Amino acid sequence: MLAQKINATLENFQKEISTPLNLKVLDEIRIKYLSKNGIIPSLFDELKSSPKEERPNLGKLLNSLRDLTTTKIAELKEQLDLQLQKDKAQIDLSLPGRIKLLGSKHLLTQTLNEIKSIFRSLGFSSIDGPELESDYYNFEALNFPKDHPARDMQDTFFVSKDFLLRTHTTPVQVRIMEKHQPPVRAIMPGRVYRNEAVSARSYCMFHQVDGIYVDTDVTFAELKGTLVAFAKQFYMEDLKYRFRPSFFPFTEPSAEMDITCYLCHGKGCKVCKYSGWLEILGCGMVDPNVFKMVGYDPEKYSGYAFGMGIERTAMLKYGITDIRIFFDNDVRFLKQF
Ligand code: DAH
Repeated sequence: MLAQKINATLENFQKEISTPLNLKVLDEIRIKYLSKNGIIPSLFDELKSSPKEERPNLGKLLNSLRDLTTTKIAELKEQLDLQLQKDKAQIDLSLPGRIKLLGSKHLLTQTLNEIKSIFRSLGFSSIDGPELESDYYNFEALNFPKDHPARDMQDTFFVSKDFLLRTHTTPVQVRIMEKHQPPVRAIMPGRVYRNEAVSARSYCMFHQVDGIYVDTDVTFAELKGTLVAFAKQFYMEDLKYRFRPSFFPFTEPSAEMDITCYLCHGKGCKVCKYSGWLEILGCGMVDPNVFKMVGYDPEKYSGYAFGMGIERTAMLKYGITDIRIFFDNDVRFLKQF
């Protein structure tokens, strides 16, 4: 009886180790046959109850079964360990390394950071405002009366009768002045939207940065001094500049600032349309009507304000001719900066 069981166990064991093995399966086989509660120890238990005269023979058989299975399993384990090591070593050291592409800041972020840092050194903090704006802040409080033709300058995306996507960052000036008493000195960068036909020169969304300084006795001379200091640091030290009269509803007087074209140094080229000058920003003295809207006394306070497009600023500085390229995210463009 026991002799048959021993034979059958050996047969089963051999069958099991001839199937495809891995270390886990092999260990399961070891546990099944050789562990304390495994098949082979249980056969040893049976040996005790077998007829006395058969025991020496059966004992020999059982011993050789245990030895055979133990050595076989050890052998197979060694083979599998070796194979595993070989698989791990199969790394081709002659392959070229993988190049990790490092990301960088988008040119617009870089430009804005530079603008921020120059104005920070001049004492301006930087403040955000909402992109979804009310008609009141975007127009009304900035002295654009309802139905005033000046609203036509800014093709607006209306969201409802009273709400719109802001067309400039100037409304943040009003929000700051409503919250703080003078002196107020801050720049306000952010995204703006205009319902314009998309072309090399205009896009439906772009970025601006506005600035404002309000205190007692702020003069146009200070406006010029600050903006010239900015332009010299941002564009080039030895530039010429000029302020041309202009119109904005929220400033009086209003002006546009030009600098000598950095490409042709004033001689005239394609970028400056052969004028020798580049328009870089709009500015002016804050209109007394705006002060009244925010509850400042126009007799007591005066201030200047300015605004510029960030894409335009970067385009002028780096000679970029198509605004759409900022939003294509073409790596060939991005990695040049
Ligand atoms: N908001 C004007 C625009 O989008 C730019 C501007 C001009 C802003 C004069 C100002 C300013 O703060 O004083 O065209």
